Amino acid sequence: MLSKKNQLLTVLCIGALWGPATSQTSIQLSPKESSVLISKHIYGHFAEHLGRCIYDGFYVGEGNTTIPHTNGVRNDVLSALKELKIPNLRWPGGCFADTYHWKDGIGPKGSRPSIVNNWWGGVTEDNSFGTHDFLNMCELLETEPYLAGNVGSGEVQELADWVQYVNFEGRSPMSDLRRANGRDRPWNVKFWGVGNEAWGCGGHMTAAYYSDIYRKYATFMSDWSNTGGLYRIASGANSADYNWTETLMQKLPKNLVKGIALHHYAVIDWNKKGSAIEYTDEQYFKTMKSAWFMNELVEKHSAIMDKYDPKKEVALVVDEWGGWYEVEPETNPGFLYQQNTMRDAMIAGMTLNIFNNHAERVKMANLAQTINVLQAVILTKGEKMIKTPTFHVMEMYKVHQDAQLIPLQINSQSFVWNGEEIPAVSASASKGQNGKTYVSLVNIDPKVAQKVELNLGGSYAGVSGRILTAKQLRDFNDFDDANRIQPQAFSGAKLSKERLSLSLPPFSVVVLELNGKK
Ligand code: AHR
Repeated sequence: MLSKKNQLLTVLCIGALWGPATSQTSIQLSPKESSVLISKHIYGHFAEHLGRCIYDGFYVGEGNTTIPHTNGVRNDVLSALKELKIPNLRWPGGCFADTYHWKDGIGPKGSRPSIVNNWWGGVTEDNSFGTHDFLNMCELLETEPYLAGNVGSGEVQELADWVQYVNFEGRSPMSDLRRANGRDRPWNVKFWGVGNEAWGCGGHMTAAYYSDIYRKYATFMSDWSNTGGLYRIASGANSADYNWTETLMQKLPKNLVKGIALHHYAVIDWNKKGSAIEYTDEQYFKTMKSAWFMNELVEKHSAIMDKYDPKKEVALVVDEWGGWYEVEPETNPGFLYQQNTMRDAMIAGMTLNIFNNHAERVKMANLAQTINVLQAVILTKGEKMIKTPTFHVMEMYKVHQDAQLIPLQINSQSFVWNGEEIPAVSASASKGQNGKTYVSLVNIDPKVAQKVELNLGGSYAGVSGRILTAKQLRDFNDFDDANRIQPQAFSGAKLSKERLSLSLPPFSVVVLELNGKK
């Protein structure tokens, strides 16, 4: 990475070569500087027993005769998520995880106990979607499961048993029970969350108290030697709670922790979140500002982690992120159902650029949540299913999964509102395993197009691309017009030796593919 002084120099040099720095956005790629991989797990998703995410979203039941399904899981959802190549899926919560007793969700469905989903609408949960249903679904999706264990209201033995149930191959009380329930082979689940939001719905603990509890839980979650080492993830900070990360880094032994989580939602004001579709220009700016704050969060939490872990062996796992608004009118306030406009596409593109650019420390992340909840990639209504603008951004960005990060310096114009400003353009770049170079660019300014000049740090033979934008910022896909917003071919990038120039329309996401590096 360049120092701040060198970054400024780079910016000044680029400004001198290409005219005044304020007239356009300039980006310098440094392809030779990196050996960092952008982990595909940055592109993870999250499925909680919340509202209509599991029931009506993923799962419609084995007996459903109107919606095509495989073992009760919607076929349209399966094929859409396979299109995204989702690398991991977090389940069963969220806050629900710390109320969930996994043994309620195994065995014959008719005899599973019902519980009340205290956090989310107080609805009755019949446990018809449990461990087997989820892990078998992950196999259909070809994605890695990420199980969140119950620390808040559970027991050490209960979580230890869950690990044995899903991961042990030989004979043992739990693996025998698994076999009795119809599954011979273990699922070999690698990713395990040790509680969720321990500072809040997970038990309102202090960081020091949680750290001690964590050590105990993590100790008894045996590896059972078939996953190559459990990837234990500690419940992390709420947004800018830097003391939480500092305490965990001080107190958790390295052999017991692979990741420390961070949750941050793009929200205007927790008491006045505003509508998902009818937002003012000011609300739009504030949402973008909150989303852009992720950059500072990642840098500051990483700096704390660097002090204790300079080799970056412990990952920062942003296992909840996305936009959070008021629920759609006349829907259950506990179900967190919201529409998804181009504002959400902006959050997604910008946030994924931030994660890519910090891939050395951010090795996993989970958008909240996959279907019908918060910043969903999919919405369902009876037999209908739509892909949101956020879906399309995730699909366009999948080229970065497990690609080699290309560091870049960017000098962006600002998106200004009432004297406040944030960068209008964000970008990230990578070299895919196929040898092609990918650059993703986002212009969050809702009114001003951005001229962008890239110095590619090498010559290429050709460029192609796709763009996601819409007629109006507040446009969205709905059940009567499912494809109003979808990616289009983008031919506006002009290549000249090592230089590339293009104009990014207002509120747009562009992903470029460069080939034939000379
Ligand atoms: O994603 C919705 C909720 O937000 C999760 O259950 C919780 O972890 C967070 O507060």
